[in-house]
Amino acid sequence: MDKILVTGGLGFIGSHTVVELQEAGYEVVIIDDLSNSSEKVLDGITVITGKTPIFEKIDLKEKEAVEAFFKKHNDVKGVIHFAASKAVGESVTKPLLYYENNIGTLVYLLKELKKLPEASFIFSSSCTVYGQADELPITESAPVKQAESPYGNTKQIGEEVIRDTCKVVPSLKAIALRYFNPVGAHESAEIGELPIGVPQNLVPFITQTAIGIREQLSVFGDDYPTPDGTCIRDYIHVVDLAKAHVVALERLLQNKNKESYETFNLGTGKGSSVLEVVHAFERVSGEKLNYKIVGRREGDIISAYADTNKANDELGWKTELSLDDAMLSAWKWEQKVRGKE
Ligand code: WQD
Repeated sequence: MDKILVTGGLGFIGSHTVVELQEAGYEVVIIDDLSNSSEKVLDGITVITGKTPIFEKIDLKEKEAVEAFFKKHNDVKGVIHFAASKAVGESVTKPLLYYENNIGTLVYLLKELKKLPEASFIFSSSCTVYGQADELPITESAPVKQAESPYGNTKQIGEEVIRDTCKVVPSLKAIALRYFNPVGAHESAEIGELPIGVPQNLVPFITQTAIGIREQLSVFGDDYPTPDGTCIRDYIHVVDLAKAHVVALERLLQNKNKESYETFNLGTGKGSSVLEVVHAFERVSGEKLNYKIVGRREGDIISAYADTNKANDELGWKTELSLDDAMLSAWKWEQKVRGKE
């Protein structure tokens, strides 16, 4: 049973990926610094799979701690690297925190992987690298644009660091997965998104408004050049996204990769507007959502959704869950977390 390291494995996408890895028969070791997650997430994972992953609280900025980890776990066959700071707004006000935490830690990880006989590395990237793409749907060959935030820049730089390393380390192969907008929760409602403070992302703000923690959802602008005037995104169910990570990892473990470094867009291929998401939530929850249209949010792009052909054809993966599935699971999770189910 191959041992797989999942950094940031107690986070939103990380915890869902740990569940899918365990269910696929892998032994999972989690590194997390708990800066944006809770050790209680281990309980949720255990309820779902019946197995508690090994967990080590490590700050990947501590180079010695990273070295010690790999001395102890020198049988790690693959790494899925989620651990990073990811708040776009915060990255603008604290750029050095983002460059240190997102790039510095990546370098420490890769230096350890270089020492292993062979290593498969999956990198958590983002459709943010495309900015506002000139053509839709967005393919992997769309140009990477000037990042709109230090957060987005750390994803671009991270991809380049990995690409350049794979070129000179024959034992290392990697895939960068460019996520569109991850939403929803595991159907068990045992794990889900746990935003700390006021949610920046749309769906947690919707569910917190519906459950009464937030007064009202502000819809940031309805004067965009889209059918209903609100921005369009590709909302992908986090469980579909998690499954894609296992498929990508196995592509590398089984040497099916065509290059030492590859990228894949992970989305549904369908764009949904903010108001379509709101209405989907109202439909599946039966709740009337209190929202108002306000001014545009600085930095928002108009429209982004994935061209899914490469992931479908090369990975043999495609999404199976719908926007309604995502909204219902997000709602069930919110009710569970607030003890109101
Ligand atoms: C989606 C839409 C908002 C909140 C971000 C990151 C991206 C990735 C996913 C990490 C936009 C609108 C939102 C609200 C609203 N994260 N909105 N009211 O900005 O597409 O992407 O999260 O990889 O890197 O940039 O996601 O959920 O913030 O916004 O109207 O209270 O919802 O304007 O159109 P975004 P989002």
